[in-house]
Amino acid sequence: MASRVRNVILCLSCLLLFVEPSSSLLETLVQGQEVKDGDELVSAQGNFKLGFFTLQSNNYYLGIWYNDNRQRQDNLVWVANRDTPIFNNSGSLTIDGSGNLKISHDGGLPIVLYSGQEGSNTSAVLLDTGNFVLRELNNSEELWQSFDYPSHILVPGMKLGVNRKTGHIWSLTSWRGAVVPDLGVFTFGMDSNHTNQLVILWHDNIYWTSGSLERGHFTSSFSVETSFTKSPRLMIDYLGRLSDDRGILVDCNSRFSGSSKMERCMPGQLPECRSPDDVFYSHFTFMYSDGFKFSESENLTLMDCEAKCLNNCSCVAYASTIEDAQTGCEIWTSTPARFNGSSNSNARTIYFLNSAIANKVENRRANRWWNRRWRWLIMAVGAIIISFFEAFSTENKLREDGFGLVYKDQAKDRPTKLDVVSMLQMKLLNYLLQNNLHFLPTKLQKSQRFQKLSQITIP
Ligand SMILES: *[C@@H]1O[C@H](CO)[C@@H](O)[C@H](O)[C@H]1NC(C)=O
Ligand SMILES: *[C@@H]1O[C@H](CO)[C@@H](O)[C@H](O)[C@H]1NC(C)=O
Ligand SMILES: *[C@@H]1O[C@H](CO)[C@@H](O)[C@H](O)[C@H]1NC(C)=O
Ligand SMILES: *[C@@H]1O[C@H](CO)[C@@H](O)[C@H](O)[C@H]1NC(C)=O
Ligand SMILES: *[C@@H]1O[C@H](CO)[C@@H](O)[C@H](O)[C@H]1NC(C)=O
Ligand SMILES: *[C@@H]1O[C@H](CO)[C@@H](O)[C@H](O)[C@H]1NC(C)=O
Ligand SMILES: *[C@@H]1O[C@H](CO)[C@@H](O)[C@H](O)[C@H]1NC(C)=O
Repeated sequence: MASRVRNVILCLSCLLLFVEPSSSLLETLVQGQEVKDGDELVSAQGNFKLGFFTLQSNNYYLGIWYNDNRQRQDNLVWVANRDTPIFNNSGSLTIDGSGNLKISHDGGLPIVLYSGQEGSNTSAVLLDTGNFVLRELNNSEELWQSFDYPSHILVPGMKLGVNRKTGHIWSLTSWRGAVVPDLGVFTFGMDSNHTNQLVILWHDNIYWTSGSLERGHFTSSFSVETSFTKSPRLMIDYLGRLSDDRGILVDCNSRFSGSSKMERCMPGQLPECRSPDDVFYSHFTFMYSDGFKFSESENLTLMDCEAKCLNNCSCVAYASTIEDAQTGCEIWTSTPARFNGSSNSNARTIYFLNSAIANKVENRRANRWWNRRWRWLIMAVGAIIISFFEAFSTENKLREDGFGLVYKDQAKDRPTKLDVVSMLQMKLLNYLLQNNLHFLPTKLQKSQRFQKLSQITIP
């Protein structure tokens, strides 16, 4: 009996020996080995993992992420192939016989991260700092490290700067969309002309500067640990906002997200027809008519789309064409811009230009002497009543109100009952949003990320 048990155990261990582990728990990739899609490297203490991942699209990337339970888009620290995503799960990371560190895949040429030399004997290790380091084994020389190619986030141990000899630049580049790690339009790093200041560039134009660093402090109120090796995580997001572990440090687009972290922003030139007070409000709704869609191949981000709208004087609304990714761009000019409420199954987040309402709210904000809650309640009720009166009064009034822009030139095309109801909802909604009330119809929760932004439109 005992021997039979022993045989069974022996057999099992034999089996175990021959079963190839589907995902290795190693920290090191040696020459000739591969990390296939589905496999992971894990750093020695288990802080970080390296492997292939995909977010909402069919694009696959090699990345490094914190080994925690957050969603992948929130715990990524590095992405290898941001400009060359792989289109299916055929990716595999290898160090080939010539010492090249590369990602092979079925869809085309391998993506080479480091070009080796014939006869080299190398291996790559994922460290507990999140750095992935390729070394020559015979002399321990460091050949390549992921920390030299930062993605969108700076973790302790990484640096920002310029190597004057080689021209190598360490900087962060935003994602293209909320869940699209492809190269976006904002970069954050040292000013290449004055290395004692930090800059955010938008399409290579200066968008924000830190002011110069003097005696360990920036001349502006902006502050991060001056030694980046000790700094908290610093991140630039796809809307150009810079944040650390404590929250947003820089946010230059008040038109979009209404933050007050706008010191030292360098806004681009607005066309004559726009004023700095022009604000976009997001609404979860459906447009009857198609707007003008820019080509997908232009790789437009949400911020680019806003700029497209601002720079076209007849534009009154814009939206991403791919709602989840928040990429692509569609703009509407005034005439056919009618919407059909949030109940439509094709509803999505659309940004309406609406300066008139903003001005009204500014005036009302002067009266701060009411108890907040009562004031809000009375205002909300008031808004409904006012909306009713405004909506049902003369057609002129209707065109003058906050939706004048949307409904401009529609004298012959009077709003139907449905439109009026929809307008009332929008008015109330605008009112609530602008007064910072956290009361939203359930339908709106769908695009909560942006609703949150709207809620801080007027702090
Ligand atoms: C991946 O895509 C390529 C073409 O892009 C195709 O040839 C290959 O068979 C696909 N591989 C898998 C595993 O789906
Ligand atoms: C280590 O390998 C390199 C080639 O990558 C070679 O040039 C060098 O001579 C080797 N050094 C030793 C100590 O073997
Ligand atoms: C590579 O280096 C390791 C460690 O120095 C050594 O054990 C191994 O034999 C070397 N392999 C080759 C092919 O030189
Ligand atoms: C650096 O200087 C060049 C030439 O004066 C200028 O075009 C560029 O915008 C400057 N870059 C930054 C980041 O200040
Ligand atoms: C504004 O956008 C509309 C719709 O795409 C287009 O027809 C018009 O030419 C644009 N105007 C300018 C000045 O670009
Ligand atoms: C858009 O992105 C693709 C792939 O990343 C790139 O090949 C193309 O040049 C980009 N187009 C523009 C206009 O930047
Ligand atoms: C608004 O959308 C609903 C749901 O899709 C549809 O049934 C209705 O006909 C639309 N109204 C108009 C006026 O197009």
